[in-house]
Parts: sequence; C-alpha cells; structure tokens
Amino acid sequence: AIQKKVDSLLSIMSLEEKIGQTVLYSSGWTVTGPTLDENYTDYLKKGMVGALFNAKSANYTREMQKIAVENTRLGIPLLFGYDVIHGYKTIFPIPLGEAASWDLELMEKTAAIAAAEASAAGLHWTYAPMVDVARDARWGRISEGSGEDVFLGSAIAKARVKGLQGKDLFDVNTILACVKHYAAYGAAQAGRDYHSVDMSERELRDSYLPPFIAATEAGVATFMTSFNEISGIPSSGNDFLLDDVLRGEWGFDGFVVTDYTSINEMVAHGFSTDDKHAGEQAMNAGVDMDMQGGIFLNHLKPLVEEAKVSEERINEAARKILLMKYRLGLFEDPYRYSDEVREEETIYKDEYLVVAKEAASKSMVLLKNENKTLPLKKTAKIALIGPLAKDEAHILGSWAAEGDRQGKAISVYEGLENMGILGNITYAKGCEIDSDSKEGFKEALEVAKKSDVVVMVLGESEHMSGEAASRTNIDLPGVQRDLITEIKKSGKPIILVLMNGRPLTLEYESRTVDAILEAWQPGTMGGAAIVDNLFGVHNPSGKLPVTFPRNVGQIPIYYNMKNTGRPIDPNSPNQDYRSNYIDAPNTPLYPFGYGLSYTEFSYSKVSLDKNKIGFDESLKASVTVKNTGRVAGEEIVQLYIRDLVGSVTRPVKELKGFKKIRLEPGQEQTVEFAISSKDLRFYNRQMDFTAEPGDFELFIGTNSDTGNKTSFELIK
Ligand code: IFM
Repeated sequence: AIQKKVDSLLSIMSLEEKIGQTVLYSSGWTVTGPTLDENYTDYLKKGMVGALFNAKSANYTREMQKIAVENTRLGIPLLFGYDVIHGYKTIFPIPLGEAASWDLELMEKTAAIAAAEASAAGLHWTYAPMVDVARDARWGRISEGSGEDVFLGSAIAKARVKGLQGKDLFDVNTILACVKHYAAYGAAQAGRDYHSVDMSERELRDSYLPPFIAATEAGVATFMTSFNEISGIPSSGNDFLLDDVLRGEWGFDGFVVTDYTSINEMVAHGFSTDDKHAGEQAMNAGVDMDMQGGIFLNHLKPLVEEAKVSEERINEAARKILLMKYRLGLFEDPYRYSDEVREEETIYKDEYLVVAKEAASKSMVLLKNENKTLPLKKTAKIALIGPLAKDEAHILGSWAAEGDRQGKAISVYEGLENMGILGNITYAKGCEIDSDSKEGFKEALEVAKKSDVVVMVLGESEHMSGEAASRTNIDLPGVQRDLITEIKKSGKPIILVLMNGRPLTLEYESRTVDAILEAWQPGTMGGAAIVDNLFGVHNPSGKLPVTFPRNVGQIPIYYNMKNTGRPIDPNSPNQDYRSNYIDAPNTPLYPFGYGLSYTEFSYSKVSLDKNKIGFDESLKASVTVKNTGRVAGEEIVQLYIRDLVGSVTRPVKELKGFKKIRLEPGQEQTVEFAISSKDLRFYNRQMDFTAEPGDFELFIGTNSDTGNKTSFELIK
C-alpha cells in the first residue's frame, strides 16, 4: 500500500522536486567539514531539499518542518538526521568501549534508549552504527566501531540496528539507522583518516563486509558510503559495491547516502573531472542522497537533460527516500516526532542513567591486577591523581551528540564523593592531558606519599580519537607517562585508570604500575561506574574487542592473522629468518578477548560430541567453566576455530562463538556451542562462499590466546 502511495506521489512530482528529495543539507553548523551552502532555508522553501541534518530539538525541527510542509508545492515532509552515535542526551560508553562488554542485549538496549531520546527531539534518522572493522589503533575512528573482529562486529551491528529501529519504524520511539562507512573505511593505509584502501576482493568480503551484511539482515534502513577509495575506486562512485553487492547480492532496499562531501571529493581523488562528472558517477553507481555536497542539487537536472543520468534512476532514488518517510509516518503527521512534552519527559530518565552506568561498568577491562591491588577498600587513604580524575569534559568521548558535560557527567572524583568516601581522598592534577609542563609533579608526589594507595586517572582528550584524529604515536600523551615515573618514587601501589578512545601502547605502564583498569570514554555515568569497578561493587568483566600492541611498529596487529610460511616457534621466537622482528616480539601486549576479573575461572578440556561432521550436520563443543575464586563474576567464554588447510590460506584463529556467564564462587557451568559447516565458510579459491572438507582445530577459552583445543574433521 505504501508503495502505491509513493508511486502516485512520484507521478505528480516534477524532476526538480524529485531531485530535491536526494538533497541533504546541514542546518547551519557542521563539525566535520565546510558548510557549502548557507542558503539551505531558501532551498527548503523551494522544495529543493529533502532532508536536514544537525537540526535538532522538538522546537527547531518543527520550525523547519513547517517550512517544508507549508511553503512547498507538495508539502513533502523533511527527514531529520543527526549523529546519535552512543547516546543522544544520556551518553553511553564510546562504541569501542561498549563492545568490550560483549553484551548484545545491553547494546540493543542502549541503542533503543538513544533512539527514544533522539526521536523525542524531532529526529528521524541517525548515522549509526559504524561497523568498520579496524585493526589499526592509529586510526582515530577506531573508537566509533566494535573493534577488529568480524564475528563480534557482525553480532554487534545487528544488535545496534535492532535497538535503534525497534520492531516497527512507525513507532515514534524508534529512528532509522544508517550503517557506515561502506566500505573498508577502517582499513585506511597507515591509519591515516580518509586515506586510500587497497585490498583483495577476498579480504574485503571475508573481513570487512560481513558486519554490513549483518546490518542488512537486521533490516537497516540506510547505508552511508565511505570517504575512501578501494583499490582505485572511491566508494561514492563504486557501482560494484552499491549496485552489484549491496542491492544485487544482498537485496538491500533502503537508500544510500554519501558521507558528507564525498561526491565532491571524487574530483580530488582523481576519479572525476569536475563536480558534475562526480554527480553523474555517484548517481549512476547507486548513491541516492548527497550529504552537504550540493552536487545533486546543482547538477542532476542538466545531467538528465543530457541523458547522462536517466530520470528512472532519479525516480528510484526519490522513491526509496519517500518510502522511508512514509514508513516513519511523516505523511500522516509530519510533526509526530517533534514533541516538546515527550522531549522533556524522555531525556535523562532515571532508568536510562541506570542503564548508562551498567553499560559503562560492563565495558571496563581489567588489564592488570598484581597482588590483588584491586578491589580497593573504602577505608584506604587514596591519592587521586591525574588530568582526567576530576574531568567531565572528556569523559563522554567524541560524537557525544547533545550529552552535557560540565554539571551532568559524573567524574571519578564525583563518583567517590557520591560513595561518601571523599574524606579519605586527596587530589592533585599532576599535569594536563597533553602539555609538556611538569609543574604539578611536586604536589602530586607529596599527595601520593601521604596515601596508602594511588589512583591515577590518565588518558586521551576526547578530541584525540574520532574523526580526523589519527595519531602516529599512541603512547599516553604529553608528560603523563613521566608523571607515573614521578609518582612511583612514593613507593605506594599505583592503580592506573585509563580513559581513551583507542588502544594505547602501554608497555612501560604495564611494567610500572600495579593495576590497570581500561575505562575507555565511559559516558555520562562514567565516574560512578569506574568507582564501582575500583571498589568491587562491580566485578570487572569486559574483554578487549581489539588487540593492544606493544609498540606502534607492530601495527597492524590482530589475532586472526595468517601463519605465513615461516611462522615463529613460540619456544624460540627470536630465531633468524623467521617471520618476526629483531627488536620486539610478535605477540601483543594484551590480546583480543583479554580481560581479568576479581575472581578466577578454570576451564576444563574442550569436549566434542563427535569429531567428524558432514556438511549438513553440526557438532556440539563444550567446556566446563568454574569460578575458583572468592567473589561472583562474569566470564565471556570464547570459541575459536582454525581451518588447517584451505584452497586459500586461512587465519590462525577465528572467533565463531561466545557466551557470557555469571558464576558464584565455587559454582561451575558447562557451556555449549554448536558448530556446523555454515560457520566454516569463507571465500575460496574460486571466490565461492563455502566451507571446505578437511581438518579443523577448535579452541574454547578465556581469550584469543587460548591453547585449550581439540580437533574435528569436516567430511564430504
Ligand atoms: O556521520 C558522519 C560521518 O561518520 C563522518 N562525516 C560526517 C557525517 C555526518 O556528520
């Protein structure tokens, strides 16, 4: 029925009006690039703009909507988009941090809350989730995704789409999701943002596309093209990606928007002769909406007149966009999302803040805990030191939408205050996040000397990760490392709490301090969650969704690498003429899937119900996990496989399952996984997506480094 309505509307639309639907402008301000056209309200009145982004609040979106509905010939409502990446008002941990919870239900819930808050402020559409697999910690946008793994990343992509879009897009509490950045944006050479990507189609399909497929399967409404080129073809002009794969193979029927001015940028890429040519290439490749570039607005009409772009292609783009507007119910009531009362009632609900604290708590990863330095006792005299200890400015992380910092976000200091133990705390800042002044060192050392234990809160500013925030050096910035050296002179145990948007190189820190809690940029309730983790109110359970390298020279480093023809012997890793470095080990500092707890878990050997399966069968793999420590805790049990020989070489390990369990002290549980040939598929020599008969190893353990394995055979 909706299709019919769209078709009848299309039949009375002029070419200009149809083109108008393909135009997206930012309302006034932008963060990530130039505002190309200040005249967007004039365009609105003429029906030349179909969607706006960065227009938010019930009031303002209503005002803009009124222009479209009351001033234009057909009164077609606008679509309002915004970057709601990890919350709208209530801010959850940065996506990379939240991924460390491996808790899909929780991630679906936080996405649903973000949608509820955003939709009440008049928004219909978010540019999330970002599902770019990222194996290079230098790349600032690693903070916005789910890390390095294709299996975990695909599961999270699904959960986030489901959370944002809910069961029915007509429900005013849900918004359209936009999976981004299609494709392989995370593989930018040298980790430099917007840089080129060159990879085989096999690698693209095996490692970078699956989270996009997962999002499509979850019914994602829109796709965003990426800024980068892939093997010479910019994504916004890439008909293979948009037409053949996305629409042809995956059957995606939503619409595709560009990332910002990426159509215009095809000129700088050296792919288009001028803007007009870029517009022709983008529309013909399958882009439906031009974000901010003004190319479709200015060039599509002449391109149709010159028969370089068909009117049918424009109809198709406009049809997909109008269909989403219908699905959102905008033709029934264009103002249904712009609801001041709901906006007021929805933001920062108590129950949302509870979930924000839970999400932050569960995303934290205990990297080191020598001599059980943690959890802290409430009676301990604590020296709280570091530029992020009292900070509310950076705790939300980048892309924190409308999240309030000062006065709303909870710092670690405030968390301690709320716990009622401020009397035992002395505070010194020590230094800034990124400066070379050591002026505060003396005071910090004095404070440390008078304490029983030191908690140092160090890390990155929120601007050091996210878009256009690549770093060639991923050490703690400024003189923060020197501050640790200084505080070490006190002889007191040091607990390092890290707030950062990417893996850092922490070799020195891991040797020097007694305990490390990776807190990422944990959001509105961050400080409260950190304090809960430090005092054992919450037992840390997060596991790294990304490898932490020893040094920047090891990058790219990820757990599912290939073996090479000259793998090292782990017992003699420095052997000459093997695939290794002469100045550093091959192993990372902390592997993918790693994270400690205040309790310990033992794993039984892996058992299988059969050790041969046919293509139509599945096997059951199980382990018994026991909490052998003294407190209750959660463990993320991980299953990996290795395909020993293939028609093309296979990685040394691939995650194929995980389960999060909670065990009381002394309690044990048998955890079971089913594996079938479906889980063993990859793009083979002929580029068929299939499994191949042969021998496999199957590992189940506490992180990707596990050696707890058995084997099975897949038979014809
Ligand atoms: O959604 C973002 C994208 O991730 C980066 N460029 C700008 C877009 C809109 O703000």
